[in-house]
Amino acid sequence: MSVKVILDCDTGVDDSMAIMYAALHPGIDLIGMTTVWGNVDVPLATRNTLRVLDLVGRSDVPVARGAAGPLLGGHADFAYHVHGRDGQGNAGDDAPVRAAEPIPAAQHIIDLVRAHPGEVWLVPVGPLTNIAAALALDPELPELVAGVSLMGGTALAPGNVTPVAEANVWHDAEAAAAVFRAPWRIIMAGLDVTMRVLITPEHSARLAAGGPAGRYLARIMEHYGDFYRDNAFGFWTCAMHDTIAVAAAAGTLDVRLAPVVHVEVDTSGGPGHGQTIADLRGAYRGYPEQPGAHCAVLLDIDDGIADDVVDLIAAAE
Ligand code: RIB
Ligand code: CA
Repeated sequence: MSVKVILDCDTGVDDSMAIMYAALHPGIDLIGMTTVWGNVDVPLATRNTLRVLDLVGRSDVPVARGAAGPLLGGHADFAYHVHGRDGQGNAGDDAPVRAAEPIPAAQHIIDLVRAHPGEVWLVPVGPLTNIAAALALDPELPELVAGVSLMGGTALAPGNVTPVAEANVWHDAEAAAAVFRAPWRIIMAGLDVTMRVLITPEHSARLAAGGPAGRYLARIMEHYGDFYRDNAFGFWTCAMHDTIAVAAAAGTLDVRLAPVVHVEVDTSGGPGHGQTIADLRGAYRGYPEQPGAHCAVLLDIDDGIADDVVDLIAAAE
């Protein structure tokens, strides 16, 4: 049986890999996608999403465009320096794409979830603006989804936009706070694990030797890997980030440690703004149950998922 997923992306490079994985994996039923501002502006995120779906032969997946900036307004900050001017590693791809659905992302999420009550995993891998907007429109959503598996936050690892904050949460901390507060089952795939599962030059060569999707992904990763070489690791590599949240929802990830704990988002506007404060004080006692906690924080996973993802995408014709 396949797992129903709605994937919400700010489609830059790692999002593109996540889309390919979700669209191609036989155990995942990608019933819809939504787009959000973040890595790039939302028109570009939408265009890139449609393009990547076309590349993997999944033009059947409905895509709805979402928020152009934070839930409460204010400055929208993008990451073109990481993902390229086109959000696709300056690959120069300008293939035409179909139109997005004529409804806003938040409504698209609600409609799809209500069509399959109890079955759908929401997988947001950009700022949480669309998910918070859907929640505000339909407060029953937490009872209607299977769960939320998000790429965002960090419990013990350093942040990537501030010393303590991860980009997706920091971009719209108020939206993230609403999502973490809502009483649904959450899996937090944060920097604790997503900076440890790395795409190597050998993976990239395997993709480049594969089908059209693999070749495209290898091309767009060049610029992204250069960014990680120069700004994080000192050697060429790509952090997988978003695909980890998809795999966690689908159950295709070998999870070694993921305590279910309380997580709160700092919205103070101070130096901790955007931090996901996870209560890991039970670490020395094997993480005893925390009444009311509903967020599984991924702290250790098997990095074999990188090979699985690369093989699946490289093999796509
Ligand atoms: O912090 C990494 C996250 O920010 C990833 O989702 C990346 O695509 C960007 O959205
Ligand atoms: Ca993303």
